[in-house]
Amino acid sequence: RPRVLSGIQPTADSFHLGNYLGAVRQWVALQDTHDAFYAVVDLHALTVTPKPEDLRRRTRVAAAQLFAVGLDPERAAVFVQSHVREHSELAWYLICQTGMGEAARMTQFKDKAAKYGESSAGVGLFTYPMLMAADILIYQTDQVPVGVDQKQHLELSRDLAQRFNSRYGPTFKLPNPYILKEVEKITDLQDPSAKMSKSSSSPQGIIDLLEEPGKLRKKIMRAVTDTGSEVIADEENKAGVTNLLRIHSALSGMSIADLEARFAGQGYGAFKKEVAEVVVDTFAPIRERTEKLLADEAELDRLLAVGAERARAVARETMAQVRDRLGLLP
Ligand code: TYM
Repeated sequence: RPRVLSGIQPTADSFHLGNYLGAVRQWVALQDTHDAFYAVVDLHALTVTPKPEDLRRRTRVAAAQLFAVGLDPERAAVFVQSHVREHSELAWYLICQTGMGEAARMTQFKDKAAKYGESSAGVGLFTYPMLMAADILIYQTDQVPVGVDQKQHLELSRDLAQRFNSRYGPTFKLPNPYILKEVEKITDLQDPSAKMSKSSSSPQGIIDLLEEPGKLRKKIMRAVTDTGSEVIADEENKAGVTNLLRIHSALSGMSIADLEARFAGQGYGAFKKEVAEVVVDTFAPIRERTEKLLADEAELDRLLAVGAERARAVARETMAQVRDRLGLLP
């Protein structure tokens, strides 16, 4: 079976709708057809120096949500990145293969550096993509299901794999992105020109998976729509409505064309009401299951230990070869 790997950062107390539609939902589908590895990437979260108690809680909440959306510990290895120490080790080797210039070109780094100020942005933010490449390459991954914001990082992972292979001999598989066009970028409800984002969206612009139904409905009813009153998809002139159409379509399974026909002549109010219902119907059971999973921490930690054990078995094999290729003594 082809292999799939992806990761999500535990940087907030809930995943948001963008994480769910852009990535995590595909993770669930792919566990049936692929050999699947999914990580809560706590080492990546360290780049923004969270409080230890926050990181601990968020890592468990993230893991609980992954099981709650339907990842099955029997079919997929769900694990915490720091439990497989080899990720940090491979990251160093890959850092040594990376040019300053190519790392500095990463747009996500440039955005963060601009936000924190060029010289106060941490070095961890700079080397972040090489750790991500390590996550991917260590499992000899074929496909990486992500949102479009991760595309450049995936290209770097591929370049690093290729470079390593040509310098030291064939060692890594070249990974491919798995990005679904219709959901590759879910936008901020208040600013449809920006992606929905844990770090930069306002609370009104972001919908959390664990949000209360009441709040969730309110946010969707207040989502920015566009001039006019027709419910039609039009990326250029109706970015807000188009985003809501994509959300509805992805969750309900109805096509955008069918939705346009269904809401013809009805205006935005009726449409938003239904979008809210579709979202609530999907999220409410996930929220409930997440709470149940979090109530038994020992069991949750046990499931994560099982996932880590399976991941480690693959990681160890790759790393033995990598060290030898590099000329490190056994
Ligand atoms: P992170 O934690 O920011 O986001 C997790 C996943 O959600 C996707 N995503 C979105 N998709 C559509 N619309 C949005 N508005 C939206 N916002 C987020 C992201 O593309 C991602 O797939 N660097 C990664 C984590 C990572 C990783 C990896 C991913 C670490 N190692 C190895 C894949 C493979 C990140 O920060 O994702």
